[in-house]
Amino acid sequence: MTWPLETVWEQSVARLPGLTAELLPEIDSTNSELMRRARGGRLDPVVLVAEQQTAGRGRLGRTWHSDPGASLTFSVGRVLEPQSWWGLSLAVGAAIAEALHPSVRLKWPNDLWVGDAKLGGILIETAGAGPDTQARYAIVGVGLNVRARPADGLSTPPAFLQQLHPGMDAGAALLAIMPPLVAALQRFEAEGFAPFRDAFGRRDALAGRPVRLSDGTAGIAQGVDGQGALLVHTAAGPVAVTSSEVSVRPAD
Ligand code: BTN
Repeated sequence: MTWPLETVWEQSVARLPGLTAELLPEIDSTNSELMRRARGGRLDPVVLVAEQQTAGRGRLGRTWHSDPGASLTFSVGRVLEPQSWWGLSLAVGAAIAEALHPSVRLKWPNDLWVGDAKLGGILIETAGAGPDTQARYAIVGVGLNVRARPADGLSTPPAFLQQLHPGMDAGAALLAIMPPLVAALQRFEAEGFAPFRDAFGRRDALAGRPVRLSDGTAGIAQGVDGQGALLVHTAAGPVAVTSSEVSVRPAD
């Protein structure tokens, strides 16, 4: 497969001056690589794509499996100084879903779903950008199943992009995702999560459904608030879930 990296770069460099676009045949994890670079003082804007990850990571210490040619795995790194970091993964998810297909849904806080099957995920990490600044280097990692992949023991086989766009390969997906993703990062920095709330709500896979959280909370999901917290109506009353350590599943 040929990767349209030059076009990706051309379409995003105006919003991200100094951007470089890089493709690695193999790396442990694009997020880990950008974290190592940031800790070594390299804070320039970059989109780093890997054909293969040997130690891809997901949220909550999970492993992210992907296969060369069957997946899109990349990270965008750039310095950001938002007023609050709340809701960044939701804003990124909304931008990616809009870029891909009307039937991509969002499962709070960072999954892309088709039906109730996982199409992809987002892992956001940050590194300090220096002693005299509130700004941090944001590393926005995106993993997307492009072709069908084995269920790996999951009860629901993963969703994949070619279900929605039969001819679309990983490079075309990157081309579709990057401009809205870069625009979303810029908008989030200026305005926070609020301008993304409606877009998230239109695609919210949990809204109106019974859910169970990993901390034992159970109730009916009722969308997200202006900061991106998950609103759950429980027997004891409404709860706003903000913890990034919590996972949530539909219970219906
Ligand atoms: C999740 O579902 O919990 C998030 C998955 C994020 C996977 C992507 S693949 C590119 C980047 N590098 C990683 O190691 N993880 C993210």
